[in-house]
Amino acid sequence: MKIEFNQFDEEMINKEATLMTTGNGYLGVRAVHEEKYRNQDQGFFVRGIFDQTVGTETAELVNLPDITELELRINGEIFSLNSPQITDYQRFLDLSTGELVRSLKWQTEQGDWFKITNKRIVSQKKKEQIAFQLIVEPLSRDCTLSVKAGIDGQVSNGGNQHLIERDLRVYDECVLVADYETIESHLSLGLAMRLNKSGAISAKNRKIQTSIQEACQRKDAFVFEKVVYVYSSLETDDPFKAAKKAAQQEITYEEIAAAAKESWAEFWLAHRVVIDSENAFDQLALDFSCYHLQIMTPDDPQFSVAAKGLTGEGYKGHVFWDTEIFILPFFLHNKPAIAKSLLKYRYFRLAGAKEKARQNDYQGALFPWESALTGYEETPKYAAINIRTGKRQIISSAAAEHHIVADIAYAVMDLYQATADQEFMDQYGKELLKETALFWLSRGVEVNGRIEIHDVIGPDEYTEHVDNNAYTNYLAAHNVRSALEQQVGDPKLHQQFEYFLEHLYLPNINAEGLIPQDDTFLSKPVIDLSTYKEQAGNQLILSDYSRQEVIDQQILKQADLVMLFYLQPYVFDFATIKQNLYYYEDRTIHDSSLSKAIHAIVAARIHEAEWAYEMFQAACKIDLNDLPHTSDEGIHGAALGAVWLAAIFGFAGITKNKVLEINPQLPKAWKRMSFQFHWKGENMAIDLTQDTLVLTKKTKKKLPIVIEGATYSLEEKLEWSRK
Ligand code: BGC
Repeated sequence: MKIEFNQFDEEMINKEATLMTTGNGYLGVRAVHEEKYRNQDQGFFVRGIFDQTVGTETAELVNLPDITELELRINGEIFSLNSPQITDYQRFLDLSTGELVRSLKWQTEQGDWFKITNKRIVSQKKKEQIAFQLIVEPLSRDCTLSVKAGIDGQVSNGGNQHLIERDLRVYDECVLVADYETIESHLSLGLAMRLNKSGAISAKNRKIQTSIQEACQRKDAFVFEKVVYVYSSLETDDPFKAAKKAAQQEITYEEIAAAAKESWAEFWLAHRVVIDSENAFDQLALDFSCYHLQIMTPDDPQFSVAAKGLTGEGYKGHVFWDTEIFILPFFLHNKPAIAKSLLKYRYFRLAGAKEKARQNDYQGALFPWESALTGYEETPKYAAINIRTGKRQIISSAAAEHHIVADIAYAVMDLYQATADQEFMDQYGKELLKETALFWLSRGVEVNGRIEIHDVIGPDEYTEHVDNNAYTNYLAAHNVRSALEQQVGDPKLHQQFEYFLEHLYLPNINAEGLIPQDDTFLSKPVIDLSTYKEQAGNQLILSDYSRQEVIDQQILKQADLVMLFYLQPYVFDFATIKQNLYYYEDRTIHDSSLSKAIHAIVAARIHEAEWAYEMFQAACKIDLNDLPHTSDEGIHGAALGAVWLAAIFGFAGITKNKVLEINPQLPKAWKRMSFQFHWKGENMAIDLTQDTLVLTKKTKKKLPIVIEGATYSLEEKLEWSRK
């Protein structure tokens, strides 16, 4: 269970830093090397710490002071990975323990050899704690070592300054403490670093550091440890004091590591998807996904998951539909309390969503396309400047990608169905359903006796400002139907819901068997997309065609109708899904990382397991590929969530209706698959081979399960085999 980079390559430096991020949902530390390298992007984030600099358009997740840097000198020579004399280089993130390790041997210019090991681990229970260790072993002769380490406030988000330094202090000669405040949002931040050695302290240019010098004998080891604590005013009134207090406690790297490793062992025991595949990479990719899902997700309802988790500055730390549709299901079926917390985040931000609806003359709640701390719209108005024309492309998502409203309602129902938690529904779910349904009532327009939804962007962002996007209309119907089922509001409102549902136009198959993605899509010209599909993810089409030209052709960025097939598998018949999957996939570039794994699910459901497997494997490589720059700005959180979705809802073949249905579709390469799945308050263990299925749970309570069309009752154990 390791992500390894066993060669130092400056070109890959930011990819490594992203992929091997350590974290715990509260904080994330990019896996930057301890030394400074020219293009290395440092990144340290705490969920919820947003700030908006004057003159910029939106709030961004603040990149916090650097705590990773460590300057090492041996006999006066400064250590760098660019030195020509490095052997036995190894660097890996052990997914099973959450520990990042780098070890190597270095020969100084004076000809002496040293073994240098750096380790890093983030605590899982004590969320504010991070530990670092450096071990230097002189292999040739005695030496003098010096290290410099501390807290460096000379950081920014791509040049935007967000932090005022209020105080820098040292206590007991080994505890460095820094106090910051975000410039506009006025959040306080306390950072403390406890060192296992004391030295000469200096504080200058937003940097507090200690310099330690020591003699080290051959065959002895020099062990230097830093334990960092970070607190903010989002949790405590005096983060400076909290950080200082925490750092005054003596604790070793090994103690912190032992506790963190225990937490990870528990996590994997309960939540690992175990695959026996001909391709070992499949298991690694699933482990990588689960690891990142765990470290990207806060467990506090005041916060949600950023599109890039806590691994980079990409998308400014904003929350999209990625959370409810792509990430939440992993938690729903593994740790339902976290799924509830993610929906509470939306519930607590109803004020912002209602305000956005009001500003646009709608009723109810119009959730922002991009959300941060406040719950108000954070989508930038413009994309990057076109340096030739000086013009900026308008981003229309905030104005039209309204399906997010129904996506949130969908997740409310998904949660209710899976947990049967009436209390959650009564306390949070119903209001979310009511306000979102009210939005759709006002969003629809009546045209010749039918209700239509005009001027939207569906999931496919290469098609803009269209009427009756099928995905949006069907999800809106589901939203309003759910509100009606849950009897939210008064009888008059129920009548309005009924009227809406009776009159809403739901695009259906035409004479050719195709479901129109929207009113105009099928009449647009078609072009050969093969070269763009080969380079999926690069958005190459936008350099050959203007955005308007892309919009005016049958070109999809990502799954749109296919998303609908995935989320509402019972609406269309097998043949319709099959025909439309082929039709639309042909026109889909998969330039969004949210696309391939969802196609894999739908392909598996129409018994195209091998095609599904190809798409699954491609989805697994969205971050885990050899290309140096695909993940520089952070991991693709939704894509990682979707890898898990593809395994469970594609290959294990789970569909959720009132009862659980299982139609296994393992690809040929997979001999076996086992995982746990939380459903209706029960933890089920599901074990599949090509032809058998074993379900077990701890209680005798009867649970109906449909396997390949036949209904069974699961008590403690159910064994099934394909005859
Ligand atoms: C996709 C959206 C997604 C966003 C954040 C965009 O490229 O088209 O569907 O929500 O990225 O991941």
